[in-house]
Amino acid sequence: MEDVTNSAFRTLCYKQGADLTFTEMVRVTNLAKGKKGELEKIEIPDSTPAEIQLAGSKISDYEKFLANFKPSNGFRGFNLNLGCPSPDLIRQGIGAAMIKRVTRVNEIVKVINRHGFECSLKLRLGLNNYEKEKGTYLNMIKNIDASFFAVHARTAKQNSDDPADFSVYAKCVDTGKQIVANGDIRTQKQILELKQIGLFGAMIGRAAIHHPEIFKELKID
Ligand SMILES: Cc1cc2nc3c(=O)[nH]c(=O)nc-3n(C[C@H](O)[C@H](O)[C@H](O)COP(=O)(O)O)c2cc1C
Repeated sequence: MEDVTNSAFRTLCYKQGADLTFTEMVRVTNLAKGKKGELEKIEIPDSTPAEIQLAGSKISDYEKFLANFKPSNGFRGFNLNLGCPSPDLIRQGIGAAMIKRVTRVNEIVKVINRHGFECSLKLRLGLNNYEKEKGTYLNMIKNIDASFFAVHARTAKQNSDDPADFSVYAKCVDTGKQIVANGDIRTQKQILELKQIGLFGAMIGRAAIHHPEIFKELKID
């Protein structure tokens, strides 16, 4: 989470039981240009397991950035952001606008894999309800070979007060891929329900900001 998941916070969450943490989203264009502030955001200075979250669609930016990238101890892979609803990103066809761009996402995942790194995806259900109903997110999940798919169960049009739609997860799990649920997860009852549906994991955002102990409290075997 932007301005939240720096390395100190990630380590705090890990010590409280989080299995995997994520850097905030960073634009790969800025990394390719070697922008110092952006490169600092993706530093993983300790052994806390973390994925680096990237946004961007230009293959040449990925190639340029990855050519100089040296993984550190805690690094577990990259996570592509296909969910950011910021109008600025959407205008550029990235963030949540990438949910439809299966061919390009496939190319990006392949480039990352070719450099020897795992790649997961974080996606919303579509830009709007029309895309959600068309199953845009399912098309992406079915057609991409990613290490896992973190599904934020809202469209990009919805705001964070609209309830996440837990009913989509069963369809996601039916694809046979590893699905991580995200959105409004706060209770162990939810975790148990998600496990029963066949979810591979649960991603917790806002509920951890002031209460990182949530990872310990919600952990199940
Ligand atoms: C302050 C803040 C910053 C966020 N930054 C990011 C981000 O950089 N990348 C991302 O994928 N999601 C980001 N999100 C979205 C969350 O990761 C998550 O998908 C969303 O809040 C729903 O999950 P939750 O109900 O557990 O918070 C951010 C959310 C908040 C509140």
